[in-house]
Amino acid sequence: MTQFNPACERRMQRLLSRVFAPVQIQRNLKLVVDHQCFGSEVLPRLGFSMNPMTELKLYQPPPEVRGMTSLDKEAFTQTITVPALRVPTGVLNKVVKSLRKSTLQRPGLPRVVQDKEESKDFRLVLLDPHRVSSPSSFSEAEAEALRSFCVTEELQHYDLRLTYDNLKSEEVLEAVLPQGQDVTSAFSRVGHIAHMNLRDHQLPYKNLIGQVIMDKNPGVTCVVNKTSIIDSTYRNFKMEVLAGEENMLTKVKENGMMYEFDFSRVYWNPRLSTEHQRVVQLFKRGDTVFDVFAGVGPFTIPAARQGANVLANDLNPESYRWLQHNCKLNKVESKVRTFNLDGRAFIQGPMKQELPALLKGKATVHVVMNLPALALEFLDAFKGLLHQEPLWDENLPTVYCYGFSKDDNPDMDVVQRASRSLQFPLENLCSVHFVRNVAPNKDMKCVTFPLPKEVLFSSDDKQTEPSEEPAPKRQKCEETMAS
Ligand SMILES: C[S@@+](CC[C@H](N)C(=O)[O-])C[C@H]1O[C@@H](n2cnc3c(N)ncnc32)[C@H](O)[C@@H]1O
Repeated sequence: MTQFNPACERRMQRLLSRVFAPVQIQRNLKLVVDHQCFGSEVLPRLGFSMNPMTELKLYQPPPEVRGMTSLDKEAFTQTITVPALRVPTGVLNKVVKSLRKSTLQRPGLPRVVQDKEESKDFRLVLLDPHRVSSPSSFSEAEAEALRSFCVTEELQHYDLRLTYDNLKSEEVLEAVLPQGQDVTSAFSRVGHIAHMNLRDHQLPYKNLIGQVIMDKNPGVTCVVNKTSIIDSTYRNFKMEVLAGEENMLTKVKENGMMYEFDFSRVYWNPRLSTEHQRVVQLFKRGDTVFDVFAGVGPFTIPAARQGANVLANDLNPESYRWLQHNCKLNKVESKVRTFNLDGRAFIQGPMKQELPALLKGKATVHVVMNLPALALEFLDAFKGLLHQEPLWDENLPTVYCYGFSKDDNPDMDVVQRASRSLQFPLENLCSVHFVRNVAPNKDMKCVTFPLPKEVLFSSDDKQTEPSEEPAPKRQKCEETMAS
């Protein structure tokens, strides 16, 4: 047998325990520690089990739960064995504090229990088996503390009852869903609603998944799944309730403002909060903001709260209704005028009316166009919008226009599309901001530019009239909310 110097063995054991603990925790990744790396004699001598998979399976629910489609919480109950230290009650708190890194840390699991004899003088301190497998697993500092409190390092074994409540959602779902398939349990949180985007192979388990997400996330009382790609004009998703109450009226807080709305009938994406904040902080008191596709108000309301005058528009009557409601809720209704028009009609109606006076003033005019699937195409509405060109051009409106791109060069793509729409080259005039990655090969971008006077006062082209039919043609856009 290979001989080890004891000091070297202890150092090596500590090193291994640091390496192994994270490896073992990555059971989800199906990592199997290769015995052969260390030789079959080395691991047992260092205090590790000959079969690391035994430890890897510690928090793995019983195999019978695989394939379950209706949640049976009892079936997850099992008994696991964990290491423990017998500690005199007089020094219990001090010992638990000194062993912070080695004690059992699991939701709902105790760290201190009665010992078998139910003695008043001793308690068992339960240890994390991923970290402690033999007395030599303790660090120098921990070993020193145990000696100073006269606690023997000898490990006891304690049989612990592990239930559904002690498991994490990924552990439950990984045990239930077919082996080797993606178990992603990601969701967007909108107030009390968890919004999922399940893959096809997860659909047979959809109600169980919904129930698990609700159980494991305090405050979530309704779980919905997107049932189709966005296919409505108003950018809201069709959705199905997987678990909980069928209550889509929700309330959320974003950047200090409150919003109430019916999540099934309007657009709301919690992943845009940073973008809303980025743009709104560019507005100053007295500025005018035209929010062409306002939704329920996440640009409009903070802009008004900052002292800007806002003209906010949305074609969806439900969004319009909630937009007005949210203006009142946040006490900014005196700073906001609301419209329920097609974006093009808004630009060529209320905006056209207000712009001449605003361009003569000093305050900045901003135009926000967040309808990424279509907004770039709406830019042609600015062509020849005004007739009397002012003598100066310092106060041209700043446009923030959003677009999706699947191009290899998304920045160039969105700028080219915007330029095409305006029939004016924006290349040296604009900046492009990356907002977020919407799907594996799809980015959301914001193109920002001063609206060229050559466009605004163009006379060489007839203005594109708002269509009779207010809504643009229904279009399929595969924005994935939960991505
Ligand atoms: C992507 S959402 C953005 C909402 C909000 N600005 C935000 O940042 O969350 C686009 C909004 O445009 C509205 N919309 C869709 N087509 C429109 C159109 N042709 N004219 C005006 N609004 C439209 C939708 O109802 C939706 O509220």
